[in-house]
Order: sequence, then C-alpha cells, then structure tokens
Amino acid sequence: MNRIESLLDRMTLAEKLGQLTMTAAGYAVTGPFIAGDSTDAIKAGTIGNLLNLVGPEPVRQMQRLAVEESRLGIPLLIGFDVIHGHRTLFPIPLAEAGLFDPASWALTAREAAREACADGLAMAFAPMLDVSRDPRWGRTAEGPGEDPWLAVRIARAKVSGLQGAALADAESLAACAKHFCAYGPVTAGREYASVDISERTLREIHLPAFAAAVQAGVAAIMPAFTDLAGIPMTANAALLRDTLRGQLGFGGVLVSDYNAIGELIRHGIAADLAEAAALALKAGVDIDMMADAYRRGLPLALERGLVTMEQIDTSVRRVLRLKEQLGLFDDPYRRGATPESSEQLAQRRKLARSVAARAIVLLKNEQETLPLPPAPRRLCLIGPLADAPAEMRGPWWAAGEPEGQVSVLAGLRAALPGTEILQASGVAIDEPRKAGIAKAVELCEGADAIILCLGERATMSGEAASRASPELPGQQRALAEAVFKRAAKLGCRVIVILFSGRPLIVPWLAGKADAVLAAWFLGSEAGNAIADVLTCRVSPSGRTAITWPRALGQMPIFYAQRPSGRPANPDDHFTSKYLDVSNEPLYPFGHGLSYGRFTLQDLHLTPDKLSEKESVEVQVDVTNAGARAAEETVFLFTRDKLASVARPLLELRGFAKIALRPGETGTVSLSLAAADLRFLGPDLLPVFEEGEVEILVGPCADRSQLLAGTIRLCK
Ligand code: GLC
Repeated sequence: MNRIESLLDRMTLAEKLGQLTMTAAGYAVTGPFIAGDSTDAIKAGTIGNLLNLVGPEPVRQMQRLAVEESRLGIPLLIGFDVIHGHRTLFPIPLAEAGLFDPASWALTAREAAREACADGLAMAFAPMLDVSRDPRWGRTAEGPGEDPWLAVRIARAKVSGLQGAALADAESLAACAKHFCAYGPVTAGREYASVDISERTLREIHLPAFAAAVQAGVAAIMPAFTDLAGIPMTANAALLRDTLRGQLGFGGVLVSDYNAIGELIRHGIAADLAEAAALALKAGVDIDMMADAYRRGLPLALERGLVTMEQIDTSVRRVLRLKEQLGLFDDPYRRGATPESSEQLAQRRKLARSVAARAIVLLKNEQETLPLPPAPRRLCLIGPLADAPAEMRGPWWAAGEPEGQVSVLAGLRAALPGTEILQASGVAIDEPRKAGIAKAVELCEGADAIILCLGERATMSGEAASRASPELPGQQRALAEAVFKRAAKLGCRVIVILFSGRPLIVPWLAGKADAVLAAWFLGSEAGNAIADVLTCRVSPSGRTAITWPRALGQMPIFYAQRPSGRPANPDDHFTSKYLDVSNEPLYPFGHGLSYGRFTLQDLHLTPDKLSEKESVEVQVDVTNAGARAAEETVFLFTRDKLASVARPLLELRGFAKIALRPGETGTVSLSLAAADLRFLGPDLLPVFEEGEVEILVGPCADRSQLLAGTIRLCK
C-alpha cells in the first residue's frame, strides 16, 4: 500500500481535517507563533499547513514539531505571497507584463522561487491571473493587465518559473494560480464586490489564463472571494469541479482564499460553518485558509449527512500528494537548508535592475526631452515619490524589507556623481497640506531639468485598495501646476515620473509635461533602473499592458471592444460616443516610446489564403529613423469583420521585438496559425469559420498606427 493510502488508513478525523487546514503564522522576537492556535496543534497533527511563516529557522522549528513530534509525522506545507519577488523585489506584475518577454517573466519567477525556498517556503500564492479592465480595482496592480492572450503567456511563464524543472527540487515552489475566476470585473471596480458577467466573457476573457496554468502543470489554484452571478467561487461546484477539474483537467489542490469559506455565511448561501464547510468541500476546495471552517464545521456536516468521509478523504489525498510531489516527506528540511551566496544575491539585484528598466514605459517625450544631457550641471527632483524607497516596493512586498530599496534620489545620485541634485517632496503623497510647494518650486531656479516624481502610495493599489477616482492623490496636482508655471518662466523642461499600481487619470499632466514615464512600482532597484533610463544607459522599451483612460467615465475601457451598430462618428449625432469626452484613451494598450523613432513598411502575408491546419507568415520591415539605438515591439492583431458572433475590433495574437541602430532597417517575422483564429460560436463552442480576416501590425492597439492586410480562411 502506498504512503498516502497507508496514512489515510491511520488518520483520525481530526488529523484529516488538520491536513485540510492552513493557518497564518508569523515570527515574533520570541519565535514563530500560530495565529488562533498554539503550536500544540501542529504537534497534535490538527494543523497541517501554514502561511506567512518566513525564514529558515522559524520554518525548521515548526517543521520539526510536525515531523518529529506529531503522531504521523506529516510535514507542513508553508505558503506565502511571493507575487513579484521575495526579498529581492521585481516590478509589480502589471508593470512586468509590459516587458512582453516570456523569458524574463519566467526568469524573475525562477529567481523569486529560489529566494523563497531558501527561506523555507514551499508554495507561492502566485501567479495572480485576474484580467482587469478597470483601473479603479486596486488588484489590477497584481495581474497581467487587460488582455487574455497576454495573460495566457504570463501564466505559462510564471508557473514554469516558480515550479522549476521538478516540484521536488529544493529550489522549486508549488505555484498557486489565483483567483479563480473572473475577480477582475468586480462591480464598479469595488474590491470584493459581486461579479456578474456573461458566460461568453467568462470563457473568452477570464478562463484562458487558468486553462494555460493547468496545462503548464500548476500545482494549486485559489478560488476568488467573489461570487459569479450569485454563486460564490469558493462554493462554485460548476466552475471548480465541472469546469476546472472536469473540462480543464486540473488535478491539483484548491486552496481557499483567506477566510473565504467562513465568508460564505455573509454571502448568504450558508447558515453556519457546517454548511459553509460542506459547500466548499463538495465544490472541491481542499485547504481551508484561516476560516477554521473545516476543523470546526465538517464534523457537524458529517453528522448532518451534508458530506461523506470519502469526500474528506479525496481532499486529504490531494493535499498529501502535493506534499509528496514537493519532496516534503523525503526531506522536509530541504528548503531552507542552504543559505544563498552573496554572488547569487548580487546577480539577482542585477536582474531586478535590468527588468525594472525594461518595465518603464515612456509615455511622452516631446522634442526629445529625454534622455538627459550627458552630464547635467543641476537637476531638480521634486515630489513625494522622489526619495521614497519603501514605496518603490509596490503593494505586495512579501519579505522585501524597506531597507535596501533604491529611491529615485539615490539612483540618480549614484548615476550622476558630478551633478548637483536638489530634492524636495513639496507635498505628501495623499495629505491636504500644501505648505511645502513654494519651497519646492524655488529649487527649480537654474536647473537643467526638473523631474517631478508623483503618484500613489504603494498601499493605494493591491488588495482592498480600490479607488473611485484613480487620479493623483492629495495635493500633487497643485504641486505639479506650480512647477509647470515656474518651469515655463524659466524655460526649463519638466519630466514627470508616475508611480502607481494602475493607470492614473492624468490628461492635464500629460498635456503639460515635456516627458512622462510610467514607473509603476519597480521593486528593489527602482531608483537605479530609472536613472539608467533617464541617462540613456538603457533605452526605454516598456509598453503598457493596460489602456490608460482619459476620463473616469470611460472605465471600463479596453482596446478589444466589440463593435457598435452605430460606431462613433463625430459628424453623426446618433453614434456611440460621449458628449463631453473623446472615446479615445489617453494611451492605448501596448503604447510605449523609446529613444529611437520607428516606422513600419512593406507588410507581407504568406500565404493569403489558408485552411485551418496552415499558418500565415507575417513579415514587416521596421526602420529606426531616430538618432539613437533602441528596441521596438511590434504587435500582431487580427480583426474578424464578419462571423457568426460579433468579434472584437482588435485581438492581440502575437508580438516580436527588434533592436535597431539609427538608420537601420530590419524585418520582423511572425507566424499565426489559422487554428488560433477559432473562436466561441453562438453556442459557446469553438468554431473555425471561413472568410476574410484582417491582419494588423504595429506599435500598439491604435488602429491608426497599424499596417493592415487581409487573409482568407478556407475550410
Ligand atoms: C489575501 C488575498 C490572496 C492571498 C491570501 C493570503 O486575502 O486575496 O491573494 O494570497 O489572502 O495572503
């Protein structure tokens, strides 16, 4: 009999429910502690999993209790939110998505896993795969942006990066893709609010990334807090059991979100903990995170006949199998046994700096304001984010301590030792005081350039951080207006660096600044990465993976809209538009400038007629007409104008990068399989339809900047 069945045979109900329980731990000076329960529970085998315990020593202490002092010696599974790095922080996921580089996405996940495993962890509650098209929602920061095709590629890269070559490796983490499913379209962008979308939107936009994670072998998945059309995900048997496990073939562990099982009572579908626990267990949720619903509710549910012991055993088997796959039975102390070398840490910081620089999006650069002149005499750095190292971490800083984060001021001083850099916050990030504006503005005198560092606090995005008006908080606009006014008198250029976990509504700022950079939250090496871009050590290449609205009222706004029967026409009153603002975004999906100036020409589609089994080769020439070497990302979109279902105006199908020196021309080649042009027909089943499809290539999801050709699909 194998280990798992043998254990099951010997386990008491309390021990079984312990394996289905995950409790928050922590580390106080006196040592690790378990929230809501003593370490006796681990010794008694009635807690089998922990979250938020970090560090080789605390982990070893708790693991030893489970392995050497409990009756059955089942090792603990310990998880943590390793969302964009562990101790060394990379850019937030929304920013990193803008690299459009699967190899980098996988590499940062691999490095995060190595660092987290060195701290004794065995599971990351990542990747977060919630597609979001509403910047009001704070968790937009944690996700892959607005596009499902991109989210699929991020899912693949992150799962393989976190899980490595084999789950049992000492540097592999079990990935826990989250939050299944369709958490992004919360009503009005309000955190934890109800979700009600069409089955088509669910299957076209929100399911694909999770299907990709399953195909990539993801070990665990976390259901969302939210309900979907009245059925909370934590109890959504149709989606968790029938779709996720049945149709998509997921065989791993489902970990509830924090207290989500207990919250089924507040959702109004469970009268008490026993009913809540029964609903979750029958939906296939294996581990109860922090509700203690399984330990306290399932014995009663068994008595009432709401669940069977077989259903409990099924979940226990999945948890024990994951622990076996992770090698925890063979060597429970494997993770955390070997400290990392200083060389490994240095290499990781270099990677963090390089990825951060590539995540920066140059949104505007009038008259080549950037890069800075080679050795500026004096720079003026103004704004509450100019010297704010801890804020550079972003909302999920995990084990990333405030110390060791590089601020903009520190980065610029290191990069420009001969430059006088004057700095003042002017105002706080989100306080009403304006007293410091006048003094800050005085610093502008004699500056070669003024750099405004504005934006959000790290905790103004992420979980429980929806903003009804995602604009510049506090008195930052007053500060910026005062600086623009003084700069105009001085004839001095103003460069704005925006720090945020979402697109900000800043049309006025974009209009007045000479250059604007989206720096999102870039992680531990933020200041050095920003200095690298400002000084042209790195030419900016980042793109935005989410549309930047021009006005609050446009949200949700995204490029892949379906057509209207009355498409916008300024000359026709009765068409799809606003009376008070343009339909156009401030910056479209994929937007991002570089220090080059790229033009596209000579689009070739070969063949232009193809059947479902064939592919079309797309070639386009790209020229760098600028004065500096730079890298361009060329996107491939399609438009299916006539089909059995109204199809989006544009759909992302591919991208390629090309680095060109000044004056150089190169050819970008992309291949598109006709089979990838299948879509969900009227009955929501995949169909391949004959007819013409436009192929469009260019720098972003703005049709006016795309070269277009047409192919014909034949049966
Ligand atoms: C939080 C989040 C989830 C996270 C979990 C553990 O509430 O919703 O993303 O992994 O709890 O911290």
